[in-house]
Amino acid sequence: MAKKGRVFSGARPTGRQHLGNYLGAIQNYVALQDDYDCVYCIVDVHALTTVETTQDLRQNTFEMTLDWLAAGIRPEETILFVQSHVPQVMELHAYLSMVTQFGKLTDLPTFKEKVRQQPDNVNYGLLGYPVLMAAGIVLYKSDIVPVGIDQAPHLEFTRELVRSFNHRYNTKVLIEPQAKHTEILKVLGLDGKEKMGKSLNNHIEIASTPEETTKRVREMVTDPARQRKTDAGNPDICNVFTMHKIFSAQEEVDMINVECRRAGIGCVDCKLRYAANLNKNLAPFRAKRAELAANPNYIQDILHDGGNRARAIAEQTMIEVREAIQLP
Ligand code: TRP
Repeated sequence: MAKKGRVFSGARPTGRQHLGNYLGAIQNYVALQDDYDCVYCIVDVHALTTVETTQDLRQNTFEMTLDWLAAGIRPEETILFVQSHVPQVMELHAYLSMVTQFGKLTDLPTFKEKVRQQPDNVNYGLLGYPVLMAAGIVLYKSDIVPVGIDQAPHLEFTRELVRSFNHRYNTKVLIEPQAKHTEILKVLGLDGKEKMGKSLNNHIEIASTPEETTKRVREMVTDPARQRKTDAGNPDICNVFTMHKIFSAQEEVDMINVECRRAGIGCVDCKLRYAANLNKNLAPFRAKRAELAANPNYIQDILHDGGNRARAIAEQTMIEVREAIQLP
């Protein structure tokens, strides 16, 4: 079946993926494979803008690849690769930087946030991050880019950059990508307040054991006004209930919705039910992951093969780009 176009997305090598990654990005990456030619990139070069040490980079890449494959990324059709394996992106980054106005980069909210987060390491790569990201996207002539809403400024920046480049060199080689904002729901962490994330340690790794998962679920914050089991709770503001709506059967959700409000079910019981349903849902994923983890060479082969396929597309684009610039 002919696909509708090419999807490209990138994610930093953050290691074992958590529920927020799974629900917000990975499931969507998997689904897009049915309709699009997909290129998914583990952006290790981007990661260098913020990491203090690179000692975990390889392990994190390996763990993340395992999670993605076990979740349903199909490496025979989809190109799954590591950013640094395709050095053409650095070359395109250099050419794109010449049509990038400095002020545009310093104005980006994403840059300003990084400056706040790491005032002692405001490196040049951090400023150029959106240019490298744009290079990665357009190198593969991508039509659609699934990203979280926080990345909207980067996508708009990419589109403007494409227009500037094509205008400056009087060409049409680069294609304006379309952002596809897919993070329908913001998955909250165990605290029930902040977005789930590794840095806040409020996350649940999808690859963890059922026991670990249950232990983490038990730490979840529920309706703070509910002090005792005999108090009525409010599911509308309870993160456990939100997760039940994703992982539990409709009858169970309805039952909790009624019983919580009249103190018919306690928070511990409610959490254990959620943990059981979550573990059941993730069981096939975990089995597949264990199978893949037993064969690390296979994982390396997939990334190697993905790199070869990505490079072939990238080099073709670069031939056209060099020609458009009229490089001697
Ligand atoms: N900046 C993205 C993020 O932090 C990651 C990323 C890098 C990306 N290159 C990309 C996303 C290209 C989409 C397309 O989430």
